[in-house]
Amino acid sequence: MTRPEVGRAVAILRDGGLVAFPTETVYGLGADAANPAALGRLYAVKGRPVEHPVIVHLADVAQLDEWAREIPTLARALAAACWPGPLTLVLRRTPRVPDAATGGLDTVGLRVPAHPLALELLTAFAGGIAAPSANRFGHVSPTTAAAVRAELGADVDLVLDGGPCAVGVESTIVDCTGGAPRVLREGGVTRERLRELVGDDVPVGGVTRAPGTLEAHYAPSAAVELVDAVAVRDRVAELIRVGQAVGVLAPARAVRSEVDGVVTLAAPVDADEYARVLYAALRHADALGLDVVLAVPPAPEGIGAAVADRLRRAAASR
Ligand code: TXA
Ligand code: MG
Repeated sequence: MTRPEVGRAVAILRDGGLVAFPTETVYGLGADAANPAALGRLYAVKGRPVEHPVIVHLADVAQLDEWAREIPTLARALAAACWPGPLTLVLRRTPRVPDAATGGLDTVGLRVPAHPLALELLTAFAGGIAAPSANRFGHVSPTTAAAVRAELGADVDLVLDGGPCAVGVESTIVDCTGGAPRVLREGGVTRERLRELVGDDVPVGGVTRAPGTLEAHYAPSAAVELVDAVAVRDRVAELIRVGQAVGVLAPARAVRSEVDGVVTLAAPVDADEYARVLYAALRHADALGLDVVLAVPPAPEGIGAAVADRLRRAAASR
């Protein structure tokens, strides 16, 4: 039996409304992927340029052929190995995918998320749900229902609360439309895991219209400045001396002694925890009205690569 709030969510989606829902990565802002009017509203609420495509979420790998065609064997293998999970595959789209979901591109991003509430919603809806991260364009992605409400307020018809997101950074996007696969955005499925699955390094980068790959993105209002563990203490002292309100976000081993007046936003013990707390820490910095977030990025290994990528883009936003 579906939960009552899932029934309500399905009715809202069928009616062309917007429902925010949890995934294992970040919260998504969902609309019926087959309804161009609903997609129009989704883009308006996000403040997202219409030429930027959104990810279509599915309940099950069995629906893949309804939304994509000419699917390479490797893409099927990646889907089988990683779904439900934090992997988005870019594939050639079927006519079922409206132009409004793809910015007019001939391709579509597809993923099956690994969150029980998301899967319950997708199964009950029995269609594709287009969902970008549930934040305004360029801002920090939300990882709790409260963050979605703070970000979107009355612009979203319903927020399903599935607790804090387990991964904390977005899905890895792999473009499977060329000869060899390419990573368009690093995320929850690590480079190391992809290498294992593909049998070779999967190159990162490529020309796309992917806002998550814009140089400036994932940005709080506070300025984000990257520093290394050795320099952080002096830089904090320097900024506080000139009257700046400063927060530090750094691996626990890098935070040794504190300077009076600095806010420790998070001190994660490993890269997994860093990913999980990253966006909440950036949001917290804004809630406190901080001027500067000094961030010591994690080593770019495992999910640390996605965290370092997001911090670099947040820092580039000023
Ligand atoms: O983890 C995630 O992927 C989350 C959750 C909600 O699933 N969603 C998410 O959506 O991060 P969004 O819209 O914030 O970022 C999706 C990225 C964008 O950079 C978009 O341009 C890219 O996926 N994308 C979608 N379809 C694409 C396509 N056909 N070709 C290239 N990039 C595509
Ligand atoms: Mg986003």
